[in-house]
Amino acid sequence: MAKLLIEGCKRLKGEVTVQGSKNSTLPILAATVLTSDENVIHNCPRLSDVTTAVKILRCLGCSAKLSGHSLVVDTSTISCHHIPDSLMREMRSSIIFLGAILARCKKARLSFPGGCELGARPIDLHLEALRKMGAVIREQHGEIVCFAEKGLKGANIALAFPSVGATENIMIAASTAQGTTVITNAAREPEIEDLSEYLCKCGARIHCAGEGTVVIEGVEKLHGTAHTVIPDRIVVATLMSAAAVTGSDIVIKGVVASHLRSVIPLFEEAGCVVGLKDGVMSISAPKRLGAFPLIRTTPYPGFPTDAQAPLMAVSTLAQGTTVFVENIFENRYKHAGELARLGAKVRCEGRVAVVEGVRELYSSNLQAYDLRGSASLAVAALAAQGVTEIDTTKYLDRGYEDFDVTLQSLGANVKII
Ligand code: EPZ
Repeated sequence: MAKLLIEGCKRLKGEVTVQGSKNSTLPILAATVLTSDENVIHNCPRLSDVTTAVKILRCLGCSAKLSGHSLVVDTSTISCHHIPDSLMREMRSSIIFLGAILARCKKARLSFPGGCELGARPIDLHLEALRKMGAVIREQHGEIVCFAEKGLKGANIALAFPSVGATENIMIAASTAQGTTVITNAAREPEIEDLSEYLCKCGARIHCAGEGTVVIEGVEKLHGTAHTVIPDRIVVATLMSAAAVTGSDIVIKGVVASHLRSVIPLFEEAGCVVGLKDGVMSISAPKRLGAFPLIRTTPYPGFPTDAQAPLMAVSTLAQGTTVFVENIFENRYKHAGELARLGAKVRCEGRVAVVEGVRELYSSNLQAYDLRGSASLAVAALAAQGVTEIDTTKYLDRGYEDFDVTLQSLGANVKII
């Protein structure tokens, strides 16, 4: 298994271009199943999660070819409605394929995605919504077996929680349902808007995606299209964290300012100077940062839960104490114990984590437990004295394309062994 070695205490400099959004690419790849046509998706990040989504498309009988960052997907040859357990276990967010397979094939069978490092990850909101749209769903022997012989029909769906995945599954399933679907308390993340833009290019009629209420008028058929995925706002927040924790000045290109409205002010309050013009961000960090103000994770447009771990790494060396409240997932502080091995002072109590800034961190051998947690360890290692070893890159590879190369291009001393 590949390990990451990072020699800390080196200032970064230079510029990087941010990758395409993983959390936009995955639902859009699922949505291609609706089109029975060829689609070209540009700016696809080269990630293991995207590879898994491609494996699922191929397993369904579709063809998918990645050249550079463009993925050509032809779903006209779909021949299967079942996602095998192995692929569901490889990526639990494969549940995002359910609505598309059910709408296209009128049946779907996949194993329960199960939990992950972050917690139980229930899918009750997904299943409840699809049942409202006429799907007959049986949950048996660890499998979800769905039928919609007469096709899906539009419904009024009020989500108990603005679930990103549930909103996406409903939007996809409703695009070719008979009648209109209205989702209230829908998720408002930029990835929802990007999915809607892709689907509308395919002929779907979706209104107000990105707002709390989304209206989808079902249409007969969707055709293929070409689409360029939005930049990954969580990778931007991670690169900002790398600059902030090493007192560096770097430039990040391909940034959509509006996607980071709840992140940029935190870095500014901590003492960074952030400039942003025409998609180009410059961030300049002081030698020692002030603490972030209270950080509560909430659904978009609030502070994103995926950025909690990288910013916690920054807070370990800040002057003062930072309090985090993780409201989205029940178990998203696994990185705290590993940061403590570097000398960080972190105390976690349920959903609250209190970080008391220290003056120095010292290298250690660390264990990665989840995607954003391992990004947090890499960020902290950039500022720790000595060489830190992170035991595996398998989690990083799920969400950060060639993260070692990106950091090396900014002057960091990073090696994969
Ligand atoms: C998406 O996960 C992202 N993944 C996550 O990013 C992100 O953290 C999350 O949204 C929140 O922004 C992808 O887009 C592939 P949710 P998703 O449904 O859709 C509860 C990363 O690091 N819930 O909004 O699974 C759930 O337990 C990943 O890139 C139900 O109770 O998130 C959680 O507490 C991690 N029932 C909360 O909602 C349901 O049916 C948020 O989940 C569905 C969700």
